[in-house]
Amino acid sequence: MTGTLDACAGPGFGPVPRKEDGRFVRGRGRFVDDIALPGMLHGAVLRSPYAHARIRSVDVTAAESHPKVRAVITGETLAARGMAWMPTFSHDVAAVLATDKVRYQGQEVAFVVAEDRYAARDALALIDVDYEPLPPVVDARLALALDAPVIRDDLADRTDNHVFDWETGDPDATAALFARAAHVSECDLVYPRVHPAPLETCGTVADFDRISGKLTVHATAQAPHAHRMLYARIAGIPEHHIRIIAPDIGGGFGNKVGMYPGYLCAVVGSIMTGAPVKWVEDRSENLMSTSFARDFHMHGEIAADADGHILALRVSVLADHGAFNATAQPSKFPAGFFGVFTGSYDIAAAHCRVTGVYTNKAPGGVAYACSFRVTEAVYLVERLVDVLAHDTGRDPAELRMANLLTPDRFPFRSATGWEYDSGDYPRALRTALDTAGYAGIRAEQAARRASFEKTGKGPLTGIGMSVFTEAVGAGPRRLMDIMGLGMADGAELRVHPTGTAVLRLSCMSQGQGHETTFAQIVSHELGLPVDAVDVVQGDTDNTPFGLGTYGSRSTPVSGAAASVAARKVREQARQVAAVLLEVAADDLRWDAGPGSAEGGSFSVAGVPGVSVSLREIAMAAHGGLDLPEGVEGQLAATTVYNPPNLTFPFGAYVCVVDVDPGTGEVDVRRFVAVDDCGVRINPMIVEGQIHGGLADGVGMALMELVAFDDDGNHLSASFMDYLLPTAMECPPWELAATVTPSPHHPLGAKGVGESATVGSPPAVVNAVLDAIGVRHADMPLTPAHVWRALQGRPIRP
Ligand code: CDP
Repeated sequence: MTGTLDACAGPGFGPVPRKEDGRFVRGRGRFVDDIALPGMLHGAVLRSPYAHARIRSVDVTAAESHPKVRAVITGETLAARGMAWMPTFSHDVAAVLATDKVRYQGQEVAFVVAEDRYAARDALALIDVDYEPLPPVVDARLALALDAPVIRDDLADRTDNHVFDWETGDPDATAALFARAAHVSECDLVYPRVHPAPLETCGTVADFDRISGKLTVHATAQAPHAHRMLYARIAGIPEHHIRIIAPDIGGGFGNKVGMYPGYLCAVVGSIMTGAPVKWVEDRSENLMSTSFARDFHMHGEIAADADGHILALRVSVLADHGAFNATAQPSKFPAGFFGVFTGSYDIAAAHCRVTGVYTNKAPGGVAYACSFRVTEAVYLVERLVDVLAHDTGRDPAELRMANLLTPDRFPFRSATGWEYDSGDYPRALRTALDTAGYAGIRAEQAARRASFEKTGKGPLTGIGMSVFTEAVGAGPRRLMDIMGLGMADGAELRVHPTGTAVLRLSCMSQGQGHETTFAQIVSHELGLPVDAVDVVQGDTDNTPFGLGTYGSRSTPVSGAAASVAARKVREQARQVAAVLLEVAADDLRWDAGPGSAEGGSFSVAGVPGVSVSLREIAMAAHGGLDLPEGVEGQLAATTVYNPPNLTFPFGAYVCVVDVDPGTGEVDVRRFVAVDDCGVRINPMIVEGQIHGGLADGVGMALMELVAFDDDGNHLSASFMDYLLPTAMECPPWELAATVTPSPHHPLGAKGVGESATVGSPPAVVNAVLDAIGVRHADMPLTPAHVWRALQGRPIRP
């Protein structure tokens, strides 16, 4: 690791083994499907076989007479309760159960509540729905055609499938630079529809108590407090009567941010039957109907001077939002954080236009392991730089090095108005190239090419790279909210009389190791051992309000909140220590110590040997000490952290692939990843996060695709068809790090959970295209696509 290591010094931080793994490796995790409440019933969803069809009638008579069925819920049942439609995160409404039309294959039409899961599923077959099929809109590029069927005729005066137009940057300044550029390259790129595909699908157990009027919802929820507000709004139950409990979550990646019809139907089922109702979707349901990601059709132009200095970028995007605009992102950002598309480069002017359209596909547009469309932005710019290198005959590493922002430019205001907090991009790229042995691999590549020319035999070697900048930690309240909820997070910390502590947080781990890393933050601030700090998350009755975990925001926002709360506690301790040591509080010096059961200590400046430990202070604070006015007899603090800015982690990746020219098969042979997420709280967990993200990137670049046929039939509804990368497709990752602290985060930390998912797809794609000498081909670069590209044939995802 290179960089400012001093910032990581002190107790707490380091590769502490994960506290939560004790239960996970023993099979003792408690997930939604492990919950069994007395008298619990089971729900199942009837889904549309059509992508677009009018519903003439729904006959549930036979299903209702099934001996084990306790309730059948249709769109009409919900309409009678004012719940047939729900608000989305993006100023739209989405059907809970279809009343008028179905708008994508797999859409929810009815919900059966039965005594067991089998009976609920069996009864679905007894429901008779009379559909009138309608022509679907499958290709986003045809959604705005004059003769395209109107998908959202439920919306007043709607005559087309247009959702929004959004633009950023300066069109005139950009046009002026393009006009005087020595070279302009352009390219059409598709970031195809993919799915977060967490191992655990979405599910809930809803339990409405008719006597108290209290609703308890156990759910796969990345944002429990935001979910509580949504249930209050949609179901009309007072918010203080709703408790959301998110137990262990088996991966989220954005999939569990939103509100799904199954959750709400389980609530209605519980209200109707008076019993708890469990609903857990199966794999096909998860892949077909819950939030997809990406689906951006982009046209990018890059302008450079004769020396290869990038002058300007111009982009237009068609964003496929599916049947309802339910993208999960800050409400003032319809295209998420795509505005950071100028990437890590010193680009004087840029302009981008995004148009969103409805299609007959599942709604969503979640930030699958990325901060609201940064993945698409990074892919765009990193591909365009390679296209520019290709077109001008330059080495992609040298071209990047010549255009990267240098450390003296930070804080840097980008051409589209983002203020990057800190960075040293050339050092990251140099480290990546050195670690990879760039010159050596280029020589090896040349030798392989020469041999291919002679013998016609492969493999062909390719080297691809990316230098990415993420924008994580949404976000400043004045700029960012979700459904009116400012994107701040709370923390509550209490130190017990015997010197152990409980930290309560509004963020929600889905496997990222929060129980360990957030305990480490308290340990760092107070000098307590990591094991002396318990972390509580995922229960709205027992945690402070906040917006949850997605977009790598936990460390930038909740991590900062935890640190601020601990510092408040330390200041309380200082007041008590002053009384104990009979000195002025200002004369006390804090020493965090090595992280022992005593905690840190206060000593009197200039008086050696006189000190008191946090543990002694905690006991004294609750004891008979005569405390001055304003000093409460406890060590406990709460805070709400409203971040002043996002944090901007970054990295440089180098990927080496071998491609078999006969079959188009790609072997990712090496992958060097240099990540900088500022101060690392737990470098081991950070590396684990990076491993996962790199595998995600290999998956998206080479195999993942949510595909449809021309009738809107979903072609990727199982893991036989929707391919996920395994250890077989991944090389041993070669990781390195630099540390450039965030100047505004209390710990100097930036988020990291999604960096590798963001940065790796362009590196893999650039490597494959470098191997086969093709200027551009769209993901996923499956063997068939690579083979077609080698033959010079067009490919279309
Ligand atoms: O929001 P999410 O937890 O997905 O992402 P994150 O804030 O990037 O954190 C992912 C995991 O890495 C958490 O356990 C963090 O505490 C840890 N982390 C770290 O140890 N040091 C950092 N600078 C960033 C994250």
